[in-house]
Amino acid sequence: MALVTSRAMFAQALKSDYAVGAFNVNNMEIIQGIADAAKIENAPLILQVSAGARKYARPAYLVKLVEAAMEDTGLDIVLHLDHGEDFDICKKCVDDGFTSVMIDGSKHPFEENMALTKQVVEYAHAKGVSVEAELGKLAGIEDNINVDARSATFTDPDEAAEFVEKTGVDSLAIAIGTSHGAYKFKGEPFLDFERLQKIHALIPDTPLVLHGASTVLPDFVAKCNEFGGNIPGAQGVPEDMIRTAAKYGICKVNIDTDLRLAMTAEIRKYFIEHPAEFDPRKYLSPARDAIQAMVQHKIKNVLNASNKR
Ligand code: G3H
Ligand code: 13P
Ligand code: ZN
Repeated sequence: MALVTSRAMFAQALKSDYAVGAFNVNNMEIIQGIADAAKIENAPLILQVSAGARKYARPAYLVKLVEAAMEDTGLDIVLHLDHGEDFDICKKCVDDGFTSVMIDGSKHPFEENMALTKQVVEYAHAKGVSVEAELGKLAGIEDNINVDARSATFTDPDEAAEFVEKTGVDSLAIAIGTSHGAYKFKGEPFLDFERLQKIHALIPDTPLVLHGASTVLPDFVAKCNEFGGNIPGAQGVPEDMIRTAAKYGICKVNIDTDLRLAMTAEIRKYFIEHPAEFDPRKYLSPARDAIQAMVQHKIKNVLNASNKR
């Protein structure tokens, strides 16, 4: 068991129809729930830390907690920086022992995104760390743009090929219609699979990454709302679309929102049903179990990654 890069995991996933789950972590219970699920399912595992998570938990804690999860479960785990916005945070994470970093230069013009990505690739590769970059923009319905304007932000296949060749990046996050959070679509969900297939055909050896891949399962939204929440109109990516994406080169599927909903629904329920309890372990235990169940569901039914370790 070790903290490992994503290279071997992606090489296997690329040859097959499954994808590796990359789950966002913020505290001990979330890490335990996810790692236990991956162990039970015998699945490959990426735990990812956003800048917000790093600030919330403080850098040293999450690294140590992920190391503890590795020791406790005996699993190889990829420790990944999610959406690093500049060279500095990527460098810090490489130096802190992360085995994979994402440099998200998607808000910059193409050439600037390439230059920034190249700089991170040079630093990370010299230390044996793998790098994910992003091309195209993930726009959500909250961004209030129409369908044409939204697809104009999708990844251009020719640019993707040029980007990968010139930067030497290990994997590429693409924009085909997903977005972060619980409000991904108004009306019918749509992902541009034709575009995904074109990208995959042009760079067949590059593992592709799907951000914003939560399904926002209606039962969990309903459970939050039943126990005092107020999350109207939430909608995510249907599960069959994730399964399809995994067939066209998507090797890494990013999931955060579905974990947040599972945990919050459980804690809300507990508080309503046990108004006299105030021991945090009492409500964090079922919350941890809810994370585990959600991740097992994803691995088995959505990512098709059981026994792929
Ligand atoms: O990409 C977004 C992830 O869900 C992380 O979210 O920045 O609130 O930690 P966060
Ligand atoms: P969701 O908000 O759909 O879970 O996406 C998470 C993500 O892409 C993290 O980088
Ligand atoms: Zn993301």
